[in-house]
Amino acid sequence: MAATMEELLEGLNHDLAAEFQAVITYRLFASLCTGPWRQEVRAFFESEIPDELEHARFLADKIVALGGTPTTEPLPVTLTRNNREMFEIAHRAESETIERYEERVRQADALGLTALKVQLEDMIVDETRHKEEIERRLLNWKE
Ligand SMILES: [Fe+2]
Ligand SMILES: [Fe+2]
Repeated sequence: MAATMEELLEGLNHDLAAEFQAVITYRLFASLCTGPWRQEVRAFFESEIPDELEHARFLADKIVALGGTPTTEPLPVTLTRNNREMFEIAHRAESETIERYEERVRQADALGLTALKVQLEDMIVDETRHKEEIERRLLNWKE
């Protein structure tokens, strides 16, 4: 599917809004989690934040470099006080993010933007690691 620069920039801004959403979500989940495993859950969500911030940094820099204006708005944040729901929300978000980056790789490739394509592929590696780690936590969650 051919892509225009305008479509790519619109997509990258959606991706940036989703990374802002991830930073806020993981920060607040780390604060809201409860129960005997609170410290473990808190440390897990906190440990994801630096990756998402680095993705936001890359996207904001790239949007500017391509002549666009970075968004100031995160996607809507869904809160819960239930630990399991936190992981389910995070799992959905990571899966959707991987799909969006795969689409963005195709757009970057169609426009001949090789460095962007490679960087997006690296971000797919990070998000897949996040997703698989969350999957393994949910797998043996008995309650
Ligand atoms: Fe991310
Ligand atoms: Fe992630």
